[in-house]
Amino acid sequence: MEFENRVVVVTGAGSGIGKATALTFAKAGAKLVLGDIDGNSLKELTTLLAKNGTQAVGVQGDISKEEDCEALIGAARSTFGQVDILINNAGIMDRFLPVGELDNYTWKHVLAVNLEGVFFTMRAVIPMMIARSSGTIVNIGSVAGIGGGYAGAAYTTSKHALVGLTKNTAVMYAKQGLRCNIIVPGGVETGISLGGNPSELGYSVLEAALKTMPRSGKAEEVANVILFVSSDKASFINGAVIEVDGGWLAQG
Ligand SMILES: NC(=O)c1ccc[n+]([C@@H]2O[C@H](COP(=O)([O-])OP(=O)(O)OC[C@H]3O[C@@H](n4cnc5c(N)ncnc54)[C@H](O)[C@@H]3O)[C@@H](O)[C@H]2O)c1
Repeated sequence: MEFENRVVVVTGAGSGIGKATALTFAKAGAKLVLGDIDGNSLKELTTLLAKNGTQAVGVQGDISKEEDCEALIGAARSTFGQVDILINNAGIMDRFLPVGELDNYTWKHVLAVNLEGVFFTMRAVIPMMIARSSGTIVNIGSVAGIGGGYAGAAYTTSKHALVGLTKNTAVMYAKQGLRCNIIVPGGVETGISLGGNPSELGYSVLEAALKTMPRSGKAEEVANVILFVSSDKASFINGAVIEVDGGWLAQG
């Protein structure tokens, strides 16, 4: 049990990649603190985990709200006394809206969920990790955080910014025993919503990119990499941008 006695926080754990990540860490013996805005999916998951003997706490909340992020990390502290691993996975899409079609609400909301929420949870957890000279953060980016033709302007901006936040954190805290990396998934078979009616222009750009996608991936294929990067076997991986896309970006 590689992760026995490790406390892992996963945001957006109710479905898709986050749920697969929670189940993968549970099999490896971790204790889990799971966040999601959807309380029902969280309840279902924590019930399933409890049946299988995993210690798991579900904390319903909106990752775009600072107080909810602090409550999530606070629940980890009060329940288990520590956080060893933080997986920032919660994210939403932006209807593939190019700048000229982008409304203020979508711009602000996508950045609040995909970027600010990551900042809030990281800031809440880092002092605990520094105090123990140990901790690992894995952020979930996207191929849209590397290239310009995979999503709309807000999503693309949020995921590019996450690369910078990840690298800066990796460098700043390397000597204090922390690691911070970003996983860059390609197309993964989850229920992620487009966020509403897609832009015609934006969707046509995505369709062109999809023609070069070798295949879509399963959430478990991403979760396995998240687990590895969080493990002691990956102790020398820090500040890395890890593409998990079946070779999609390599074709670009
Ligand atoms: N599916 C893909 O093809 C793909 C590709 C690249 C990157 N990603 C990234 O992977 C991550 C997970 O995506 P997924 O495909 O598993 O999507 P998903 O929609 O299946 O899961 C996302 C989870 O985040 C939760 N969530 C949404 N908004 C939230 C909020 N404000 N506060 C708290 N929780 C919230 C949702 O309820 C959901 O359970 C996202 O960051 C996404 O950008 C996905």
